[in-house]
Amino acid sequence: MKTDSNIEFNEVINARKAFTQLEGSGDKYREFYKTELEKKNNALPPSKPFAQVEEILQKESRDIMVCLRTRPLFEHEVEAGNLKALSVRNPFTYAHKLEVRFNGMPKISSLPYEVDYAFGPEHDNKIIYDTIISSLIPLVLQGGIATTFTYGQTGSGKTYTLTGIQELVARDLINRINSPENLVKETGQSKFRVFLSFFEILGSQTFDLFNEREPLKILEDTFGVIQVSGAKEVEITSVEQFLELLKVAASYRKTENTFKNETSSRSHAICRIRTQNTLLQQLEDGKFFLVDLAGSERHDDSKFHGSDRLKETKAINKSLMTLKECIRARCLLETHQQYIHVPYRTSKLTLLLKDAFELATSRQCRTVVIANVSPSNTDIEHSLNTLRYTAPIRVTPQSTKPEPNPNNPATWTHEKMVQWIKSSSKFVDPKVLCPAETGLQLCRLPEGEFIARCLKCPGVTEKGAKIFYLRLWKLVIDARTKRRNETIAKNKKNFT
Ligand SMILES: Nc1ncnc2c1ncn2[C@@H]1O[C@H](COP(=O)(O)OP(=O)(O)OP(=O)(O)O)[C@@H](O)[C@H]1O
Ligand SMILES: [Mg+2]
Repeated sequence: MKTDSNIEFNEVINARKAFTQLEGSGDKYREFYKTELEKKNNALPPSKPFAQVEEILQKESRDIMVCLRTRPLFEHEVEAGNLKALSVRNPFTYAHKLEVRFNGMPKISSLPYEVDYAFGPEHDNKIIYDTIISSLIPLVLQGGIATTFTYGQTGSGKTYTLTGIQELVARDLINRINSPENLVKETGQSKFRVFLSFFEILGSQTFDLFNEREPLKILEDTFGVIQVSGAKEVEITSVEQFLELLKVAASYRKTENTFKNETSSRSHAICRIRTQNTLLQQLEDGKFFLVDLAGSERHDDSKFHGSDRLKETKAINKSLMTLKECIRARCLLETHQQYIHVPYRTSKLTLLLKDAFELATSRQCRTVVIANVSPSNTDIEHSLNTLRYTAPIRVTPQSTKPEPNPNNPATWTHEKMVQWIKSSSKFVDPKVLCPAETGLQLCRLPEGEFIARCLKCPGVTEKGAKIFYLRLWKLVIDARTKRRNETIAKNKKNFT
């Protein structure tokens, strides 16, 4: 007997078949798809020029940037007759998917995905670096924490993007620390020291890529500081040495042959750069994490491989989901002053990046997520998965401002901030430390800049400036913790 669900099931099977046929060159829907794609492309609005990163971050008081990079179609894909199913019009990326209606008629569904920056096949690594990464270097030198992730399906260009960025960071950072304003007059040496380490995380295991894959342990010490015990850290003195070490690390990385990529990276690779300001002893070391994530290979793809690969894929997907939750929760905290649990202890990767997610941190953090996608129609399901993963990470600010909280400086007006500075320090001049900033803007000042401003006031020592910085941040952290405890208590009450 034919039931409704039976009919529906058969229709879906037919639609699937039609979709699979598309991959053959003689497919009956191919011409339709091609013509419709051309029409859609012509009707789309042009790309907007790339906005200034700082403008967006300041205006929306956000710390997280979400970008999409669509790679070019490869020659072998063009030869195989693959079509370009993605259109990039910054800040949108449109995914055009062929669907077959139940009556057998094909249609194209086009969905726009908005991010902060949408890069297309014509944009090279240098443009990406100049637009979104170069502004992270001053933050790191001021004691902040920068993190860059490349996410996406296997073969979508994560390693290509991150390797390019790493090389550009190496050149830019070393040139900057050796620029005349950063040299110590007496010695002619830079006031900054730069250290590099490189790890790989495979499930719950960590390996040192600078020390022939020696196993490492990521641990949280009694002070809550994350230690990578036994990791080799090398001091960098030249661009050439930096580039050479990146090559060494890449050669030790675990790669495997997958359907899409002969040298697919099956691990998360983390390049950690630490910068030390030798003139300001009180300033925390800056950190830059460049993370090349393992491919988000789907279960269907891995089922053709052994059970080990399946386990590996499960572990990768779990850590990618934890990462997404952590980034989003941290973003909501910044933009909505709203407490949400940040589950960074759930995976080794997020534990290592604790500083970027921690509620009780006084460090300035910036995170850039670059999602990589393939434009090929044969990869459309994977690309949609990536777009769906990435889109929710970008939390836009709420339209109404968070209510002013007398205990939380991040919600104070400029006037209230000035009043607090006056009443809290005999030496710090509010006109120098906070000439026009609101509480939120002052709290978003990197530690190095905060201390440098305080040191301009007569009578302020470096230690005194640091204590003053921590005093302000203690208020912010106490207010966040109080809010968290209230939320937990409220949730408990609702539950019982
Ligand atoms: N934007 C691009 N321009 C030119 N070639 C690219 C681009 N992106 C990727 N490629 C090429 O595509 C191939 C696959 O890229 P890559 O190794 O970066 O993929 P991946 O996302 O790291 O995959 P996996 O998850 O399997 O490690 C490489 O040969 C790379 O050189
Ligand atoms: Mg890779």
